[in-house]
Amino acid sequence: MTKKYIFSLAREEILKLIPYKSARDDFSSDQKKMIMMDANENPFENGLNRYPDPMQLKLKKRIAESKKVNIEQIYLGNGSDDIINQLIVAFCRPNVDSILICPPTFGMYEVHANLNSIKSLKVPLNVKFELDEDSIFSSIKKNTKVIFIPNPNNPTGNSFSDLKIQKLIDNFGGIVVIDEAYSEFYEGDSFVPMISKHKNLVVVQTFSKGQGLAGARLGMCFANKYIVEILNKIKAPYNINSLTIDAALKKLDEQGGVYQQVSEIIQEKHRLLNEIKNVKFIKKIYKSDANFFMIKVDNGNKRYKQLLELGIVVRNTSKYYNCENTLRITVGKKDENNALISVLSKMDLK
Ligand SMILES: Cc1ncc(COP(=O)(O)O)c(C=O)c1O
Repeated sequence: MTKKYIFSLAREEILKLIPYKSARDDFSSDQKKMIMMDANENPFENGLNRYPDPMQLKLKKRIAESKKVNIEQIYLGNGSDDIINQLIVAFCRPNVDSILICPPTFGMYEVHANLNSIKSLKVPLNVKFELDEDSIFSSIKKNTKVIFIPNPNNPTGNSFSDLKIQKLIDNFGGIVVIDEAYSEFYEGDSFVPMISKHKNLVVVQTFSKGQGLAGARLGMCFANKYIVEILNKIKAPYNINSLTIDAALKKLDEQGGVYQQVSEIIQEKHRLLNEIKNVKFIKKIYKSDANFFMIKVDNGNKRYKQLLELGIVVRNTSKYYNCENTLRITVGKKDENNALISVLSKMDLK
């Protein structure tokens, strides 16, 4: 039943597609014991002369253990950005289908929709930056295929009510993508365990934020095996490189260190929020469940430029929907946060 439902949502041409078979797709035994003459590689060993495993089985096995899912429920991408694109390619017909997003939201959903000639229906968050589920349901069109919800949200930093998300999953006929890029910093529950219960649920996580591997570009997608099967069809043959696979495997063995860093970042966030609350030009500090927070200031462009001149780069989010005169600040290390506190108090006099 799940297969029928997922295949009815996916693009017909993708289902019919015969994917490129890489030289290693048919072969999974230990390469070291074999003479490898199948892939036109350079035989001289240097650690990177062989193509990586196209299905990343060793890495997926480790991820499956740590997330308590099956290997067939995992798809890996070149960052979650890549996964967002692949989901749109798999389910949305160019110039026919649409995605639904809730601004202010992460910008790449719309960028990838545009790149694929897909319309983005926009249903703004309410004034408290919460999901407006009634408007979402009344805005969904027959050809709306995917809803993207970042939880916690970027750029606002807040998380959404689990009940509202659940209602979307239960009542939307297409795919609901919960983008948990900031999961390590969020104290609420992940939706990953729900993928077995809900055939239209996709959860995306990343090694870029709490895991500290933004440079490696590795995103994880958790969904039922039929969705994963379709994503596997449209991926580039060797989409995750060997350096990234090794870095991620090492990181998965160092989760104690990650936990320590994440705890320190959360502690620093609370300290920063407390230290800057009396800065006069900061009009509002928004609640954050991530490793960044958004502030409303007297003049977003002016304060952004002042901070740059004083050596601190933040994100000017003033152009995001309903975010006039806001800045988004990523929590740094203690000395970096101290520099920010000192600069903000100096700026208060200007
Ligand atoms: C909500 C959200 N999703 C996805 C991403 C992209 O992450 P990745 O580095 O895995 O492509 C970001 C990055 O800022 C993000 O904020």
